[in-house]
Amino acid sequence: MDALLLNASLPESCEEMCPAIKLQDLKVQFETATAHAVLALDGVSLVVSPGEFVSIVGPSGCGKTTILNFLAGIASARLSGEISVFGKDPVAGNPDIAYMLARDSLLPWRTTLSNAAYGMELRNIARKEREERAADLLRRVGLGEFVHRYPKALSHGMRQRCALARTFALESRILLMDEPFGALDAQTKLQLEDLLLELWSGEQRTVLFVTHDLAEAVALSDRVIVLGPRPGRIIAEVVIDLPRPRSVRALQEHSHFHRLCARLWGLLEQETKSHVN
Ligand SMILES: Nc1ncnc2c1ncn2[C@@H]1O[C@H](COP(=O)(O)OP(=O)(O)OP(=O)(O)O)[C@@H](O)[C@H]1O
Ligand SMILES: [Mg+2]
Repeated sequence: MDALLLNASLPESCEEMCPAIKLQDLKVQFETATAHAVLALDGVSLVVSPGEFVSIVGPSGCGKTTILNFLAGIASARLSGEISVFGKDPVAGNPDIAYMLARDSLLPWRTTLSNAAYGMELRNIARKEREERAADLLRRVGLGEFVHRYPKALSHGMRQRCALARTFALESRILLMDEPFGALDAQTKLQLEDLLLELWSGEQRTVLFVTHDLAEAVALSDRVIVLGPRPGRIIAEVVIDLPRPRSVRALQEHSHFHRLCARLWGLLEQETKSHVN
């Protein structure tokens, strides 16, 4: 009887102790209709703890989005190795995951409020609750006056703020972010990076953030994972030992911030050269 009780309580306590994200020797191969199969990832192992902010950088085509798609349970390709989210197999629609992309993907026929609440609607959260939560987040991202506007009346930066509000409103424990600020001008980007840090630091969710902007990776992260050219493998991991709370703007004057950026540049450059040679 005791043994049964012990076993019954195991899954929950195990989940609490599990890493938020675990990849173990992940290999991914895409089959294509015309050409040879594409080996996208080759032996990637990564553990991300709950509350950690980890970025992935690496050349185009090295498999960054593929990793996020597998974690979100929306990839279809042959894989070997292990991949888990809080100790469980990834599945599409997992409430533990919120996924934000580079393009804002707002629905043009919905207002800002309705767009920010859309993810919660899909998760069957009651209308009153989702509108209150969406309105609160829109206020925090500076769109309080624009809740009844449609996307066509918003700038690109404002649309990305709305997408950020929609992502945070989901209250998922893990945020997957694929170049969310990639298409923004430098000033709006800095503003949104600070906004993301502010939202994240209040709640300490786990973030896996993909970017091509090394300064952005350093400014936001606890660790930066560097992938080499396809097939993606981890070539380095850099711990970002900058104090928190951080202001992305203030970091621009921090010499250690620039040293860390230079280190990442060096690692990527070295790998690219050795790949070409
Ligand atoms: N559905 C698919 N079918 C076939 N090949 C694919 C598919 N998705 C990705 N690939 C291939 O897998 C590799 C990795 O793609 P992925 O999109 O993960 O790269 P990435 O690192 O995100 O690149 P980028 O920085 O340009 O966004 C690429 O060579 C790509 O062509
Ligand atoms: Mg990508």
